[in-house]
Amino acid sequence: MEQKTVVAVIGCGRIAKNAHFKAFSKMDTIRVKYACDLIAEKAEKMKELYPFIEQTVTDYQIALRDPEVTAVYILTPNYSHYEITMDALRADKHVFCEKPITVNYALSCEMAEEAERRGKILNIGVCNRYHKSVEMLEEMNREGKFGHIYHVYCSFRSCRSIPGLGGAFTTKALSGGGVLIDWGVHFLDLILYILGGAKPQSLTCDTYSEMAKDMKSYRYKSMWAEDTADLENGTNDVDDFVSGYIRTDKASISFNGAWAQNLEHDDMYIDFLGDRGGGRLIYGKRFEFFDGQTITTETPEYEIPNMYQRESEAFLESVRTGVKNRCHISNILESAKLLDGLYRSAEQKREMEI
Ligand SMILES: NC(=O)c1ccc[n+]([C@@H]2O[C@H](COP(=O)([O-])OP(=O)(O)OC[C@H]3O[C@@H](n4cnc5c(N)ncnc54)[C@H](O)[C@@H]3O)[C@@H](O)[C@H]2O)c1
Repeated sequence: MEQKTVVAVIGCGRIAKNAHFKAFSKMDTIRVKYACDLIAEKAEKMKELYPFIEQTVTDYQIALRDPEVTAVYILTPNYSHYEITMDALRADKHVFCEKPITVNYALSCEMAEEAERRGKILNIGVCNRYHKSVEMLEEMNREGKFGHIYHVYCSFRSCRSIPGLGGAFTTKALSGGGVLIDWGVHFLDLILYILGGAKPQSLTCDTYSEMAKDMKSYRYKSMWAEDTADLENGTNDVDDFVSGYIRTDKASISFNGAWAQNLEHDDMYIDFLGDRGGGRLIYGKRFEFFDGQTITTETPEYEIPNMYQRESEAFLESVRTGVKNRCHISNILESAKLLDGLYRSAEQKREMEI
């Protein structure tokens, strides 16, 4: 039987509960020795929900000192990714770190260099690269079904979705930014991926923070990370709307993103325009393909396995074999560089080369 990889999970919040622990419960290749959270009750609650967790701790250094632990999952807020990843790599652990890599490109590069120096795998949780629809589109592009993809348009706009308003999510020093880094990280990363590793060359971008200038009067029905919100005394200095244009060596990309907007519907999709065919990826779901030869649209039927389980299985496989996969940090740095460039362009209000 295959040996189980012993891991520690740092951060027992929403993404841990809703995605990763759920995925671990279906995997027989992983042993979760530690669940760690600064707030003891959150780790304990997780152990109640997922009894396969062996022990809970509040100090992640305890798990890092344990030689039996081979890999750690870092599922904490963005500002802490850098420090915990560096500590884990220096303790000779392989690391899976949630997206975005960290709050900026320079620190992301340091993390990649440290992993290389230590000979450790460092993967980033850009889970959509393991979504079946993304894999199929990437393969169709490689097979030439689109012909030449000359432009990609993408929309990641929602009516009311500012997470944890006033807390870490909307404080630039802690999150690195707003909707662009939080959602754009997924959309723009998978565009570069589907295009076959496109390299951005120049870009322009504008960011806005309009919908919660007065946090107390922001109207919403539900909020991700509501327990971290601080509408009375918190900070909101990040973008809730972004618009940009990117030239790459493969195709141009235009995009709009909104954590909140005064339009009732959500528009979450990516359009790939090729000279032989075109495809719309309905984010997190399926895709439609318009075949330029027969002039018909197909919506293929296919099974969609759990992408979080697949990204973890692939991570553990990398840990066992040492072979870097599509979510290895070296394959994600380009999108971190792109996000940095877009924020710089918005600050300086001009087009720039990157
Ligand atoms: N892949 C995805 O689609 C996806 C979706 C949502 C969130 N995320 C990412 O996951 C990360 C966590 O987001 P979340 O929504 O779960 O946040 P959250 O606030 O719900 O959970 C974070 C947890 O980390 C704990 N924590 C903070 N610092 C710690 C430390 N030093 N040691 C131990 N525990 C610590 C907090 O107490 C909290 O319980 C973020 O980086 C976010 O961008 C990814």
